[in-house]
Amino acid sequence: MLPYILEQKKNGKKIGFVPTMGALHKGHLSLIEASQKENDLTVCSIFVNPTQFNNPEDLEKYPRNDKEDIEKLEAIGCDILYLPTAEDVYPGGMHSSEFDFGGIENQMEGECRPGHFNGVATVVNRLFRVTSPDAAYFGEKDYQQLAIVRKLMEIENFGFKLVGIPTFREKDGLAMSSRNVRLSPEFRAEAPKIYQFLLKAKDLCQNQDFKTVQKTIQEDFSKTELQLEYFKICDQNTLVEATSREEGKNYRAFVAVFAGKIRLIDNLQIC
Ligand code: PAF
Repeated sequence: MLPYILEQKKNGKKIGFVPTMGALHKGHLSLIEASQKENDLTVCSIFVNPTQFNNPEDLEKYPRNDKEDIEKLEAIGCDILYLPTAEDVYPGGMHSSEFDFGGIENQMEGECRPGHFNGVATVVNRLFRVTSPDAAYFGEKDYQQLAIVRKLMEIENFGFKLVGIPTFREKDGLAMSSRNVRLSPEFRAEAPKIYQFLLKAKDLCQNQDFKTVQKTIQEDFSKTELQLEYFKICDQNTLVEATSREEGKNYRAFVAVFAGKIRLIDNLQIC
């Protein structure tokens, strides 16, 4: 555990933790605000984690701006910034541990980005150990990641609280993401269709079966400049793809697209 945090915990302080890869936007700041409301001290970490990138160009071009990030953290009154080096996070060398998350790691993001969730879980596991929080805050934009972190906490016996925070959106509905700054003006104008189609799916699900809704939305995407990687409707708890609706269960639609070279994801509870 980081010595400063250990000292604060000895003094009875409650620690909230927000892990990030920097290029902070209002979505990140909403996680920090949620932590500030529930804890005495909030720790934000910034570390662009190489092992969770399956695409070297995505890692190389991932926006990095520590100076601006620090200004934003100061302005919002975040108490502690943990800005580790690669050696701090990976003292034994830059490689992921292997986890068994019961299958959810192999679908959607896991299927499209091999090794991604082992990379995420490895870094989150390490960050949880050094920050030893009372609560950790993650955005629902990465809903599958949130489910993976929940499983990680079971596997590693972390006893603290995990909080999912609803997706923060631009005025036109585009989910906030650090990658949005890399969109060309043309693709930035096209990208709000992701949320529009999620809302349409929610609407259609009132009286159509999931397969029909999926087909309609896939067709809608094929008429745009966005290249659809997947559109899936899944059981919100298990994240298993659903073909039909069962009473008492909730369902969520998940999307991944390429807007040119930039990959964007989003999701929405639809029923
Ligand atoms: O969501 C992110 O920004 C990252 O996946 C995380 C949780 C900070 C791990 O690198």
